[in-house]
This record gives sequence, C-alpha cells and structure tokens, in this order.
Amino acid sequence: MKVGIVGAGMVGSAAGFALVLRGAASRVVLVDIDPARARAEAEDIAHAVPFGGAVSVMAGGYDDLAGCRVVILSCGVGQKPGETRLELLGRNAEVFRSVVGEVMRVCPDAILLVASNPVDIMGQITARLSGLPAARVIGSGTILDTARFRWLLGRQLGIAPRSVHAYVLGEHGDSEVLAWSAARAGSVSVESFAEQMGAPLTSEVRERIDTGVRRAAYTIIEGKGATWYGIGAGLARIVSAIGADEQAVLTVSTVSDVEGVRDVACSVPRVVGAEGVTAALVPDLSSEERDGLRASAELLKETVESVPL
Ligand code: LAC
Repeated sequence: MKVGIVGAGMVGSAAGFALVLRGAASRVVLVDIDPARARAEAEDIAHAVPFGGAVSVMAGGYDDLAGCRVVILSCGVGQKPGETRLELLGRNAEVFRSVVGEVMRVCPDAILLVASNPVDIMGQITARLSGLPAARVIGSGTILDTARFRWLLGRQLGIAPRSVHAYVLGEHGDSEVLAWSAARAGSVSVESFAEQMGAPLTSEVRERIDTGVRRAAYTIIEGKGATWYGIGAGLARIVSAIGADEQAVLTVSTVSDVEGVRDVACSVPRVVGAEGVTAALVPDLSSEERDGLRASAELLKETVESVPL
C-alpha cells in the first residue's frame, strides 16, 4: 500500500518512521514545502528499513502521490508553549486551502488522514474542501489521548496498557472527555480492578490521570518544543487498520452526529478499515460524561462554523 505524507516536519516524519517499523506500507512518499527537508527525512527514515518492514521511502512532489491509498496531512504550524490547539486554526486553514486541492488533483481516491491541529476542525475543513465522503476524511482525533489514558491507567493498575480498554472522547483538546465510567481492565471496570488490587481510584488519582492526559502536550512542548512520537505511532496505527482492512475500533474524528450535535468532527470509538470509517459506537457514559461530550461537540461545531471556506 502506498502512503503519502504531506508535511515532513516532526509529526509527518515520525509517522513515516512508525510506518516503516510497523511495515504498514509498501511505499511512503514525503512531500514538503521545503524539498531539502523532505529528502533528508526520507533518507533518514530509509535507513531504518533494514530494521523494519520492506518499505520504499522517497521524497517527492505532489505528482509523486499518485496511487496513494492514504495521504497523511501533517502540514502547517504546531503549538508554541502555552498555545492551545484551537489557536492554530487561522494559519493552518490557510495552508490546507492550497494543500487539499493539490492532493485531490493527484489522488482523488485516497483516504485523507488529518494530523494538523486543531485536528478535528482541520478534518472538517478537509472534508469540505475535498468533497470526499465523511468515511474517507479521518482526523487522528483522540487516538493519542486514548493512548495516554491507557498508559497512565495501566501504570496505576500495574497492567499492560493494551489490557486497558478506555477511551477519550470529543475534541482532541482541552474540552475532551475521559470516559471513566466505560473504562475496563481486562473484563472488569477499572474501579473494581483497582479495589481488587487494593489501590482504589481515589479522586486524587483520577485528577492526576485526567491532568496527565489533558495537559500532556503542553508539558511535553514546554520541555522539547513539540510532540511527535506518540502522534506518529497513532497515525501509523490508523494506516495499518486501513491497509489490513482490520475493522479496528479506534477513537478517531470524522464528521457525524454526536450527542445531538449534527455534522461535527470529533472523536468517538469508530470502526476503521479499508473503506475508512464505517461505523461509530458511543460507549455507555455517565450523565456527566455525556454532557461533557455534548459540550465538546458544540464547541467544535461553533468553531468550525466560524471558519470561512
Ligand atoms: C498532542 C498533539 C499531537 O496532543 O496535539 O501531542
């Protein structure tokens, strides 16, 4: 499967690197406004191929995206210390107005996988600009937040993150909702598991984990200027679900109706396979979580309606 990456910055390059290590593509093409950067990243990533999958990695222009099954859009600017994701909207919307047209010119049959922030809004803008069906415009959404939630819960409970089934819903951003009431460790609720382990989930523990998820990007950006490994791996995970027609349940963002808010891109657990997103499964939530998800969807809807096409 051929995968394009438009934007060979830290996120796009980390995604390319993760694709190689997973062997989740046969060809990867990096495109960037700075061709020298794309070439350098492609060559560096190619040196990982002997340690990973049989992947051909190259840099090129838009025309080299022809035949891509998936195109990752990781172009635009990232958060500066203290900046919210929503504050990037104006600058990145401008970038996407030119990029999406070029990508559709060359590979109109591709699935577009949006990573640039504010990712939910950028995904909805991409759907508008491309005219593609919602199923084929996927935002990475809260796949990374869900991973952070699972990692922190696993550390708290002393179990592998992959044995924790917990979701973060709504905006990939400050209004996101950690679905504690639906969180499972193995087949039991995390509350029950914690009790059994003699380490109950007190309000302090919950608050620490919530902050650890919600503020992760801000903390990392303070220390190293940006995040890229977690999101790069999350993007590769989504690509592998598409390539393998896995029908995997992932919290990604596509335009749909959420908690009564119509036509809004935000994350709930969705089924991802070769055709893109084919279904959504909203977990049983507490009334507080449901209200939070609705508020998050309403915030995103108001924000996207403020963006002129
Ligand atoms: C983060 C960026 C990818 O949450 O939004 O790290």
